[in-house]
Amino acid sequence: MTESLIEIRDMTKVYGEDEGAVYALAGVDAEVKHGEFVAIMGPSGSGKSTLMNILGCLDRPSSGAYVLDGRDVSQLTKNELAEVRNQKLGFIFQSFNLLPRLSALTNVMMPMLYNPLEDIGDEEAEARAIAALESVGLGSRLHHHPNQLSGGQQQRVAIARALVNHPPLILADEPTGNLDSKSSVEIMGILHQLHHQGVTIVMVTHEHDIAAHAQRTICVRDGKIVNDGHCADSRQ
Ligand SMILES: Nc1ncnc2c1ncn2[C@@H]1O[C@H](COP(=O)(O)OP(=O)(O)O)[C@@H](O)[C@H]1O
Ligand SMILES: [Mg+2]
Repeated sequence: MTESLIEIRDMTKVYGEDEGAVYALAGVDAEVKHGEFVAIMGPSGSGKSTLMNILGCLDRPSSGAYVLDGRDVSQLTKNELAEVRNQKLGFIFQSFNLLPRLSALTNVMMPMLYNPLEDIGDEEAEARAIAALESVGLGSRLHHHPNQLSGGQQQRVAIARALVNHPPLILADEPTGNLDSKSSVEIMGILHQLHHQGVTIVMVTHEHDIAAHAQRTICVRDGKIVNDGHCADSRQ
C-alpha cells in the first residue's frame, strides 16, 4: 500500500476551445494520505465539482496525472474508470440520489448487484445491506421507500450504499447541503465514525462549520488551490 491514496500532479481540465476555452482546473497539485478527512471549499465556479468528478473517476483531466491508490487512472477508458469506481469509491451527493421506487434495502443492495468484480449472491448482498443500514441507525427502516424517510434518513441510506462495497475512499459533495442543522450533525457524526474506522473522506462544502469537521481544508479559486490547511479567513 502506498502512503498516498490520492496524488494529483499539474492537473488541468479545459472546457471548450480557442478563445472560448475555460480552465476549470488550471494546474492543481495535491496529495491525500490514507485515512485523511479533507474538506474542499471555494466560491461557486472555482472548480470544486470538476475536481470531484475527476477524483471520482466520472471524468478525465485534460492533462496531468491522477494516481489513485498507486495506479495512474488519468487516461483510463470509460469502462476501466467504471471498474475503478466500483472498487475504490463511494459517493454521497447533496440530493441523496436514491432510486425512488426502491426500498432502502434495495437501494443499498444496488452496488453489489452491479459489482462485476465480485459475484455476490442475493442472500449475501441482503445481509451486507442490512448490516450497512444498521451501522447508520436505520435497521428499523429497511423496507421504507425514500419518500417515507426524512432528508437525514435518506442521506443515511445513501451513506450505507456508499459503504457497502467497502471502498477506501468516500467522496461527499455538499452532503449536508439539503439538510436541517440537526440532521447535518447526525450525518457529520457518521462521517466521523467512518473516518475513525480508517476510511478516507474528501468532502466539498461551502459551510465553514461543516468544513471544521475535517482535519484539513483545501481552498480552490479560479481552478487553483489557493490554500491547503485551514481556510478560516477566506470566508465569503
Ligand atoms: N461541462 C462544462 N462545460 C463548460 N464549462 C464548464 C463545464 N463544467 C464546468 N464548467 C466551467 O468550469 C468552471 C468550474 O466549474 P465547477 O467545477 O462546476 O465549479 P464549482 O463546483 O466550484 O462551482 C466554471 O467556470 C464553469 O462554468
Ligand atoms: Mg459545484
